[in-house]
Amino acid sequence: MKILVTGGVGFIGSHTVVELDKAGFEPVIIDNLYNSDLEVLKGIKQITGKDFPFYNIDCNDIEKIRSLFEKEKFDGVIHFAAYKAVGESVDKPLDYYENNLISLLVLLRVMKEFNVKNFVFSSSCTVYGQPDKLPVTELTPRKPATSPYGNTKAIAEDIIRDHVYSAPGIKAICLRYFNPIGAHESALIGELPNGVPSNLVPFITQTAAGLRESLTVFGDDYDTPDGTCIRDFIHVLDLANAHVKALELLNEKQDSDYYDVFNVGTGEGYTVLELINTFQEVNGVKLNYTIGPRREGDVEKIYAQSDKVNNIMKWKAEKTMAEALRDAWNWQLKITPKK
Ligand code: WQD
Repeated sequence: MKILVTGGVGFIGSHTVVELDKAGFEPVIIDNLYNSDLEVLKGIKQITGKDFPFYNIDCNDIEKIRSLFEKEKFDGVIHFAAYKAVGESVDKPLDYYENNLISLLVLLRVMKEFNVKNFVFSSSCTVYGQPDKLPVTELTPRKPATSPYGNTKAIAEDIIRDHVYSAPGIKAICLRYFNPIGAHESALIGELPNGVPSNLVPFITQTAAGLRESLTVFGDDYDTPDGTCIRDFIHVLDLANAHVKALELLNEKQDSDYYDVFNVGTGEGYTVLELINTFQEVNGVKLNYTIGPRREGDVEKIYAQSDKVNNIMKWKAEKTMAEALRDAWNWQLKITPKK
């Protein structure tokens, strides 16, 4: 089955291309390279031994997307391509609403024109805001997003749901990611943040590699065991695999208007300091860090209840946070120029 992977040169997209290939799917990659590097295709080839078709296309360009669907007969689409920096979205809301929502509308419209039925969407636990009860289930009410980025994910889910229930034939799954970390165990692909990383783990690995002076832990006065925030850190390969399982579930579904959402997390929450200590232990490195003030908009604690994805999609996280931090470090060592 031929699957269009938008944003397939990105962090989660590239790992999903590898897992799709392993599961016998035929990925076709599009990416506008706004936040990704073509070198990643070499890493994918070294892992899989294959040159998957790649098109440098922006998902907002409906004519280009139409010609792609004319050329490649797709059986499904996994849509990763989006802007994803929380802080940047606060400074540039129009760019985020335009890029993240127009690209979705273009894909759904063209899928309908070409009768492509299976759609997997990259959503985020950010739609829950700060949950009142933990762990979060899919029934936990969504809260007003704390950033335009998060709002684009919530609006996108509603667009997909309404489209599925109006248009016979299309089936869709939204995967609500928690915190993806790590890299492929081969250290041939991994996270390539643009500029100064806003996410925790790439900032840690760059600091440990001497590229950054020191990590600032954003606040240790939260209501948690050690005062630092709690998150559900999931290995990027486990997350990639959830996309394969989602496609397989969609293939099994005969109902013409199937729509569902799944939390994709490990089901365990760890604090920022627990992650830092695990990173130091598993890699035998000392991390330079200081405790600083809280970061505006951070959620205090969130982690998934993953029964639904376990039971319905027959998926569960296999890798530990320690393995993810080992893989993240090996990848950082691989891409850091030797002094
Ligand atoms: C995790 C924890 C920080 C950096 C966001 C988006 C989510 C997804 C992942 C895109 C927090 C702390 C971080 C640092 C720190 N985005 N931290 N020092 O904010 O949970 O999730 O990124 O796909 O949708 O909401 O991830 O890695 O930025 O932060 O102390 O230098 O690490 O305060 O508690 P977050 P994060």
